[in-house]
Parts: sequence; structure tokens; C-alpha cells
Amino acid sequence: MDREYFEIRNGRLLFDGCDLLQLAKEYGTPVYIYSQNVITDRIREMKAAFSEGHPQNRIAYASKAFACKAMFKLMEKEGVCIDVVSGGELYTAVKAGFPAERIEFNGNNKSQAEIDLAVEHGIGRIIIDSLLELEMIEKAAAKKGRVMNVLFRITPGVKADTHDYVVTGKKDSKFGIPLDDDRILPYVKMAVESKWVNVLGLHFHIGSQIFENTAFLAAMDAAFAVADKIHEYCGYWIEELNIGGGFGARYTGEQKKPFSFFLDPMIRKAEQFASERGIKVPALVTEPGRSFSAEAGITLYTIGSIKEVRGIRTYAAIDGGMFENIRPALYGAKYEAVSVSKPELPADKTVSICGKCCESGDMIIKDALLADPQPGDVIAVLSTGAYGYSMASNYNRNPVPGVLFVKDGKAEWAVKPQTYEDIAALDLIPESLR
Ligand SMILES: Cc1ncc(COP(=O)(O)O)c(C=O)c1O
Repeated sequence: MDREYFEIRNGRLLFDGCDLLQLAKEYGTPVYIYSQNVITDRIREMKAAFSEGHPQNRIAYASKAFACKAMFKLMEKEGVCIDVVSGGELYTAVKAGFPAERIEFNGNNKSQAEIDLAVEHGIGRIIIDSLLELEMIEKAAAKKGRVMNVLFRITPGVKADTHDYVVTGKKDSKFGIPLDDDRILPYVKMAVESKWVNVLGLHFHIGSQIFENTAFLAAMDAAFAVADKIHEYCGYWIEELNIGGGFGARYTGEQKKPFSFFLDPMIRKAEQFASERGIKVPALVTEPGRSFSAEAGITLYTIGSIKEVRGIRTYAAIDGGMFENIRPALYGAKYEAVSVSKPELPADKTVSICGKCCESGDMIIKDALLADPQPGDVIAVLSTGAYGYSMASNYNRNPVPGVLFVKDGKAEWAVKPQTYEDIAALDLIPESLR
């Protein structure tokens, strides 16, 4: 198999040294499995391309792709920062002992309570998405007596070549501050003059699953044009530019680009911007999510019923579904699967792998190729590590599967599987119904 950290040894399929059939037996299915080695390889590749030769540059893993305490611990050990987008992600990171000064907080509608939490813990940066947020941060900072670092998220007005649901940088977007009316200029001036915030610069995120660098470079041009205007308006030069995430990951046959393909020209553009103006090169910050976690994760399932609809298709139903991976139903995401039970047989049977939820759209892979699928077989769906567990729900009151971390042949729980008790734990019978 041409996937990292997969191998067949003595007729068994191994992932990061762990026997997958054995894991299915020991821990049950469905279960999410993450290879720590895949994640750390990705981090090291990005560091080599981005921050090792340029110590001012930083990587902030976008934890929305996959967050749990173990993941935050791994990020801490690897020396990267993290990006959070909710009080819940922030709280989990803090509970994992992640250093607050390495946390940055994004989001298009942060509540006052979330901002208070960020200020309380003294996190590294808040990315401002509206004027209202600047006022909320000032209020919290004044109350705590703590100056907060801030950046302004702009909508650069570029359209990345990817699925419409994951485009965020085009003009019509709920994210960021629109640029056409220059409303950002008085916002930045207000912040520069505020005694409760320290302005560091600008932020953009143009979308997800991107394989070309043209939209990134166009967004940088837009950001630098704003930087010039800001300087003209209030004499302030940006010190930092956050270029977001969105670097493509491999799900099926995508031709993935190395991180340096995106980052080298961006580093050069920042240097050119600075040298033309005789200012310090702004620090660049990336927010990779899926490119760190997608290929590191797989999901193991057991096939239950197999149903042939003659002349149309054969359904192989699994013990998971849209409650633990909503992406195929949400935006037609594509995956590949392999048979864990029969890793050496040719994958020559076409079946549609459907979930167990009460929706016809609950299809994990339409027309998958599997080796002789039979009830009771264990299969692995590949590259499920981003926006799978993190988007899971209890639809149909299904428990969210647990997360195993594997490394060099050793497996450990990172998140325990939910139980039926957990699902019903917060339910109450109102007095009026008793
Ligand atoms: C602000 C921001 N940064 C980073 C990311 C991570 O994107 P990806 O997982 O595609 O790298 C996202 C994803 O939605 C985002 O909204």
C-alpha cells in the first residue's frame, strides 16, 4: 500500500507498527486511529520549509481539524502553537497544560464569555473579526488589567480553487473584515491607540484543500496593499501576517504538493515587501489543520449487512456513519477504504459503504473497491483524521467512537469511546412530565 506507515507483515495490515485486526478485536469498532509518526513527520516538514531558516515565522496548528488533550500535548512537545476557535477548544488546550502564550483565538463571532476566558488565561493572540470584538477585548483586558496581542482578519477577496463550502477568502464571506470600503483603517487606528491591545498585524484564511499557490499569493498582495494603507492612515507597519491554513491533504488520488511549494514564494514575497519599504520582514504564521491530521487518521469499521439491489448497487453497511464522519454527506468528501481482514486479496469488488444512520445520504464511500467484502469483515477508511472526530455528533443517539493514538507498534486511548450512559447523562425529565 502506498500510504505512509502502512505495511503488510505476515498477512496482517499494520499502521504505524500496530496490527489493525488485533486493534479492532481489542478495542472494538468503530474506532478512530491516529499515527503519531505521520503527524510529527508533517510538522517537521513544515518546520524545515518555514521556520527553521526563518525563526520569526511560527506554525499554529488549527485544532478545529482534530482536537483533544493528547493532540494538544503532541503539539506542545513538537514546539508548535495552536489556533482555537471556541471556548471549548481553548478550555481543552488549557486543561491539557498547553502554554497559553502559544494559543491564538480565531472565530467570526466570539462571545464575551469566550473572550473573557482568553484574557483570563493570557493567551498569545486574538484574531479580531469585527469592530464589536475589538470593544469586547478592550473591556475584558481592562477588567483583568492585561494587554492583549491582536491581529485583524481580513477578507482578501480571492477565490481559492476548492469546494464552495470551504472557501472563506472570497468577498461574500462571513469571515473577516471586508476590504472594499476601507473600514479596517479606523479599526486598526483605534486599536493602535488603545492601551489595552497591542496590534501585531493581519490575518487571512482563504479556504481548505488547496493545491495551488496562486490564491495564497494573491491574498498576500491584498494584505500588503492593506498594510500600506494602514501605514499611510496611522503610521503603523504590520509586524506579523497570518496566512491561514488550507494546504491540501491526500484523501484519494490527489497529487499533494510539499509545504515548500506554497511557503517558499510566500516567504520571498514577505521579504520583498519589507525590503522595498525598508522595514523589518513581517513574521509569517501558518494555521495548518488537515495537512497535519487528515492522513494521520483512519477509522476502523466492521461490515454488517450486505445488500444487493440487483442491477443498481451493492450496499455494505458499517457500524459507523454520518454521526462519526459527516464530511461525505456535508460536502461530498471522497475517501478510500481497504480490507483489514483481507489485506492481501485484490480489491476488486465494488460496493457502496453506507452508515447506519436514518438518512439515505449516510454514505461514507459510494462505489468503493474492496477485497471480497463479507459480514464481519473489518475495513479501514483512510485519511479520516481531519474534521471527522471533531465534527462527530450523537445523531440517532449513537455514541461517538473513541480515539486511539498509535506509534511504533504501541496503541493507547487518547479519547475513550462514549457510552450510552454518557449520551443520556445530561438529560432531565422536566417536573411537568413526571
Ligand atoms: C482561520 C482558519 N485557519 C486555519 C484553518 C485550517 O484549514 P485546513 O484544515 O484546511 O488547513 C481553518 C479551517 O477552516 C480556518 O478557518
